[in-house]
Order: sequence, then C-alpha cells, then structure tokens
Amino acid sequence: GKMNLDMGFKDKNLISIEIPKQDVGVYIIQAENNLEIIKEFMTLVGKSYLPPKWAFGFQQSRWSYENSEKIDWVIEEFRKNDIPCDCIYLDIDYMVEFMDFTLNKDLFPDFEKWIVEKKKQGIRIIPIIDAGVKVKDGYETYEVGKANNYFCKNKEGEDFQAAVWPGLCTFPDFLNPEVRKWWGKEYKKLIDLGIEGFWNDMNEPAIFYSPERLEKAIDGALEAKGKNLGVYDFFNLKDSFLNLSNNESDYKAFYHTDKDGKKMNHYDVHNIYGTNMTRAASEGFQEINKEKRFLLFSRASHIGAHRYGGIWTGDNHSWWSHLLLNIQMLPSLNMCGFLYSGADTGGFGANASGELINRWNQFSIFAPLYRNHSALGTRTQEPFAFSTEEMEHNRNFIKFRYALIPYIYSEFLKSRENNKPYLMPLSFVYNDEREKDVQDQILAGDSLMLTPVYMPNQKGRTVYLPEDMLFCQVKKWDEIKFQTLSKGDHYIQAGIDTIPLFIRKDKILPLAKPEKCVDDMKGDTLQLICYLDKKATYELYDDDGVTNNAELLKANIEITLKNGEPQVVVEKSEKLKYRKFNLMIILSNGKVFNKNI
Ligand code: GLC
Repeated sequence: GKMNLDMGFKDKNLISIEIPKQDVGVYIIQAENNLEIIKEFMTLVGKSYLPPKWAFGFQQSRWSYENSEKIDWVIEEFRKNDIPCDCIYLDIDYMVEFMDFTLNKDLFPDFEKWIVEKKKQGIRIIPIIDAGVKVKDGYETYEVGKANNYFCKNKEGEDFQAAVWPGLCTFPDFLNPEVRKWWGKEYKKLIDLGIEGFWNDMNEPAIFYSPERLEKAIDGALEAKGKNLGVYDFFNLKDSFLNLSNNESDYKAFYHTDKDGKKMNHYDVHNIYGTNMTRAASEGFQEINKEKRFLLFSRASHIGAHRYGGIWTGDNHSWWSHLLLNIQMLPSLNMCGFLYSGADTGGFGANASGELINRWNQFSIFAPLYRNHSALGTRTQEPFAFSTEEMEHNRNFIKFRYALIPYIYSEFLKSRENNKPYLMPLSFVYNDEREKDVQDQILAGDSLMLTPVYMPNQKGRTVYLPEDMLFCQVKKWDEIKFQTLSKGDHYIQAGIDTIPLFIRKDKILPLAKPEKCVDDMKGDTLQLICYLDKKATYELYDDDGVTNNAELLKANIEITLKNGEPQVVVEKSEKLKYRKFNLMIILSNGKVFNKNI
C-alpha cells in the first residue's frame, strides 16, 4: 500500500517514513557499514532469480516490429553489419486484438518453424504479456478466468472492468494462489511454440480509464460546450481527462481475495500486484519445465520479486538526464536485490540522436539486462540506424560487451551466491569522506569502476579516483589503451569512440573473444588484464548457463610479484571450459608483462 518517505524535505534534520495502514513489520538491520547492511538485507529477502546466460547478450526491441518479415530484416542488418545480438522482442502488436497468449498468424505465419529458424541464427524471440485481459466472449483466457472467478471484483462482487490496450479488460487476481497457478500455465501456450522468455508489462496494473470516470469527464465536456470558460473551469475540464489514467479512485474500486477467502481492497495491496504476476509466471515455468531457465522481467515490482525475475526501469526518454538517472538507478535496484536489471537503452519515449545512443551503449554494456527499446512513433534507434561512423562505434561497444560476458556473468553469479550488489556506489568499498559525494561513477563487480560520459558534446570528463587505478580507454575489445593514474582528481579523455573504464588496483579483468551471440562463445581462452601492485586475485564463476541448480564452476587466479617478475597461479574446476589464459600484467610503474598459461 501507500507509504510516504520524506528524506529531509519538510525538515532537513528528519527522515520520516509514514505508513497509513497499521499492519507493518519493521526490520532494523545493524551492521558495520553500508555494504554489510545491504548484504544482511539481501540475505533476508532471498537469492536472486537466475537468467539463462544468453540473456546477458545484447537485446533489441521496438514497439513494434510489425511482422516476422520486419524482424527477419532487423536480424539481417545485425548480422550483415557484424553487430552481435541475442534477442528480438515482440511488443503488443503480435497478439490478436492485444489479447494475451494469442498470436496473430497473418503477421507471423508458421510461427513455430520461424522460431526454430531464428534460434539457428542465434536469436531468441521474446514476447510481451500484459496484466489486463480483454473482455471478449469466446476468448479462452477471458472465458476461463471469468468462469472460475479468477478476476478482481468491484464493490458489487462483479468482475472489475477498466480499459488498457484492447479497451475494456479484467484483471487477474494474482494475490490468489489458485489464480497464479492458472496464469502461470497460460505461458505454456507460447512456450509450446518455442518461446524461452517473456517480459511482463502494465502490471501496476496500468489503467487508461474506467468507464464511469470517462463518462463523467465526457458529460463535463458536453456541459462546457459553447461556454466561455474561465481559468478554473478550463483547468477542471482539462484535468478531468488528464487524471483519467492510473487514478487512485480506480485502485480503490476493486478487490482481491486471498487463499482464505479474505477480501482486500486493491489500494492497500497495490505494490505487490506486479510482483505476484511475475511470481505466477516464474512458478508456472517451474511447472512447465523444472530444469530450464527462462528469461523473465517485469515493469511493476516490489521487494522480494527479484527471486522470480528481473526488472526494467519502464518508460524513460531519449534524454541525457535519463542516461544519468539510469546510472544512478541501477545501483539502487541492486541494493534492493534486483541484480538482473536495466533500462531501455537509448530511451523509450522521444527521439534519440546517434551521439546519445553511442554514449548510452557505453554505459549499458555493463548492465546485466542490456536492451535497446523505443516507443511507437519515435525515431528508430537500432545500433545500425545512425551514421556509418556511429554504427561502427556501436558495433565496437556491443562487441566489448560480449568480451565482458565471462566477467559480467561471473560477477552476477558471485553477487547472487554471496548476497551482494553487482553495481554499487564507491562508498560501499572505499571509506573516505570524498567517495560519498561521487554520484556519477559506480563500481561494477570486484574489478571495475565505471565513469560514463552522460552529457552531449564531451571529449572526456572529470573523475575522482579513490585509489591508484588503471585507466582503460576502450575503443574495441582488442584495442585498449592503458594508463596508470594515481588517487585523486583527474580529467580523462574519452571521445565518442571511447569507453572510459578503470581497473582497480590488484584486480583482474577477464575478457573473451566476442561472437555474434552468446551460444557461439564456446572458446576455451580468456584474456586477463591485471593491474598489479602487490597481489592480484580474481575468483571466476561460471556454470552451464541453461539449467536451474547447475553446478557452480570456479577458477581462482592469483598473481604476485617475485623479484620484479609476476608469478601466476590458476586453480580451477575440472569442468570449467576456460583452459588457456593470456595475461597482460601492468605494474604501477607502467611496466607490462605478457604471459600465456
Ligand atoms: C508500456 C511499456 C513499453 C511498451 C508499451 C507497449 O509503455 O512500458 O515498454 O513498449 O507499453 O506495449
């Protein structure tokens, strides 16, 4: 339900949290420092959802790619331009009249065969599922839901109806376990056709309007017709339409029933609706195929939902300020346990410039969920949609993402195993006063500090280094310029073709040769870049990438300096696929050693 958080807004010296309802459990976590508090919290809320490894590849979306031919063309552009990609998304228009679990066969003929063909090309197709179920006689999901009383009810005990994409909809009562069970199995209709992942949307639930309130607004407009409206009458009229969507009074107008038959007003449980939709899907997947990992993320969510799926940050815009927001939101989501998270890269609403896409890619390559998505009516923003030069940069950045997959996947598994964030503020690791002020640099896993450029027309930026670090100017995955920089303030060069990145002291970054998709990355060789002061270590995690409860495979890499010469020790699980390690070791004095073991 509703909660008001006032972080020193009304009174600078007071943080106040107001919870109008009484039934609240408060947990107080005491620990040594921020990171320990978050670890305790993450231990409390449970282990993160684990996506398949291919879900760490680049993903391309658009509202909407209109048919299978258009998607074939998009894939061809990716492959022709040598830009890796693992997933293409189906937005709402793949359905018949926006009805969940249906498929428009005119737009997608031979769907099953087509899905097999796409998979051979290294592409998974990911459809959207919305919370609202169209009210339509003869539509199976609606009919079954209605017959079994699976939908939320109004005050009179009838199915509550309000409009979303298809017009009037009913809303499954996801708080009821029986409904979740039913809904979870509905996904089978598409899984049986070869689908391996979904995104759950509009599950706050979003409501465009309720018929009663729309009618009232129209009556008001008719009444105003021909009248000379003054300021207040005009604003009232305007607001009566503007406030139709997602209105509190609609959320107060319907009810859930829990497993014991207890009725709950939606308004009081609003925040857990989306969570329970994702839970229904996740538990459904378990029933449908216990062994297999599915891609799943949601728009609406709540603490605890990270166990069932990931989250994306919803409808952002192609604005520079939203790139900065993205940089700041991901550590916050990580602290809440949502490790598999990301934003619409390039921005959803408004038109993106090639420069914005370049810079956004430079950041998003580090996000576990890395998807480019844009809204209907906006300029297309695929990595190849801009100038040849900008496309080349995108190709280089996305290839670098694939080179980073052993690292990102390893850090993801480690964070999941050890209940800690993957993306986090500097102050979680460094404890001087200065780090607390840094809001535009973040740590990504054990080895990296990210310093993205998030403003237009920049050739670089200022950074603060909490300790000596190795500055990497990444142009391509195999074209990186290194420079050791000392603790303190610096201006670093990072033109539009360059990702500015830092490797921490005594840390190691593993990189692999990129391929067109994750499934193709079968190589047994890792490049290891190490910034060595005294003793550098890296613990690499991996697994089979596809099954639930897969065995964790590990390697321990240790590099020390003996009489000015680096010594390397690698201990690894027998089954770990990486067998060859090409090392580049850079000492603080700038001396470089290359070693292959
Ligand atoms: C919502 C989603 C967006 C999607 C659109 C159409 O706005 O957040 O990602 O493209 O609906 O389905």
